[in-house]
Amino acid sequence: MLEYIIKGGKKVEGCIQVSGSKNASLPIIAATILNQGITTLYNVPNIHDTQMMFEILKKLGGKINKKANKIIIDTSKITEYVIPEELMSQMRSSVIIAGALLGKYKRATFSYPGGCDIGPRPIDLHLKAFEKLGINISKNYGKIECFCDKIIGEKIDFEFPSVGATENAILASCLAEGTTVITNAAREPEIIDLQNFLNKMGAKIQGAGSSKIEIEGVKKLKDVNYNIMPDRIEAGTFLCMAAMNSGNIILENANPEHIISVIDKLEETGCKIKTSKNQIELQGPKKLKAVDIKTMPYPGFPTDMQSIFAAMLTTAKGSSIIVENIFENRYKYTQELIRMGAKITVEGKSAIIKGVRRLYGAKVKATDLRGGAALIVAGISAKGTTTVENIEYVLRGYEKLDEKLKTLGIDIKMQKI
Ligand code: EPZ
Repeated sequence: MLEYIIKGGKKVEGCIQVSGSKNASLPIIAATILNQGITTLYNVPNIHDTQMMFEILKKLGGKINKKANKIIIDTSKITEYVIPEELMSQMRSSVIIAGALLGKYKRATFSYPGGCDIGPRPIDLHLKAFEKLGINISKNYGKIECFCDKIIGEKIDFEFPSVGATENAILASCLAEGTTVITNAAREPEIIDLQNFLNKMGAKIQGAGSSKIEIEGVKKLKDVNYNIMPDRIEAGTFLCMAAMNSGNIILENANPEHIISVIDKLEETGCKIKTSKNQIELQGPKKLKAVDIKTMPYPGFPTDMQSIFAAMLTTAKGSSIIVENIFENRYKYTQELIRMGAKITVEGKSAIIKGVRRLYGAKVKATDLRGGAALIVAGISAKGTTTVENIEYVLRGYEKLDEKLKTLGIDIKMQKI
């Protein structure tokens, strides 16, 4: 097991390059199945979750060639359409592979996905979208078998703008006969990146980023190369680290347009923020002001920033109220912050945070990716030493994290126990 030892209290100061987006990379890696050829991707973060996706592609017959700054993916010899259960259970987003297999081969067998412990994470909306497209689904002994002779474009209306289900519907309908129209689609920037990637391959998709997406089926998709968008949640995480102890940070390769709601909230806490097309600079105030947060589907405040923002607000002046509207169980990290001196009470979907003068180092445990990131944010600002255990969760989503933190002047080291 891996842990971080953080000697807190130092200001976060300096400049770092934000890595490529985990949540844009995963559906795009799945989408490389659709051209049954060669795809070259740039700016894919080297993290557990992208490596897992590569493992799945290899199990299906794909070939992965990692070079210095690019990944060459060859899906021309894919013959399998059964996603290995042991890999599915380790990562929820592997269900995205199903949409690509169905889009290309009209067959996919998989089990219910695993993922972070932030809620039941059902896939009913994914399966309803597949059924709408004429795909037969049979479930037995935890296995889901999907198959059809051909995929016919259809109207798909989502009762909830699910990111994964929207991505799966796009992947399954790219090569369909006719046009698919998705309404109440998720609007996240990662879906725009997926549309841009697929259209570069020759797909005919429009509307990503809005609630209505139209996919006109085409016969074939071609080989391409593509540069993955920056990771907006990594950018937001580093901004909160600097904001918490009046630090000063410059993020390069960061798109402020992707996190307007986070930037607005940081300015409300008293941070001074300057932005340009690919850069965000933040100066933290002497003392943060408390603010209220409600997580919502994009363009609302992102649920992935909830725990990280909460950690930052534990030493703000005043009380903050957080409402988590997306996942059912995304407050597990609060118990760990309370061990560091935070004053937080959780009541159903809400968490009330009463600002304290400062946090104190303690031994804490990460329970999921963004909850673990929140503990690191807290440890950087706390007085004394914080040990964050189970940081494997955090390394799923943040590339070269300790390297970047050391660049920013943080006293952090990784330890294997
Ligand atoms: C994506 O997860 C992201 N993961 C999550 O980031 C992110 O928190 C989430 O979108 C919301 O923005 C990736 O992109 C790999 P959803 P996803 O389907 O697709 C319910 C991170 O930390 N739902 O939009 O799983 C679901 O239970 C991760 O990087 C159904 O009920 O999110 C949840 O309550 C965590 N039925 C809500 O919708 C379904 O069929 C949002 O889920 C699907 C989802």
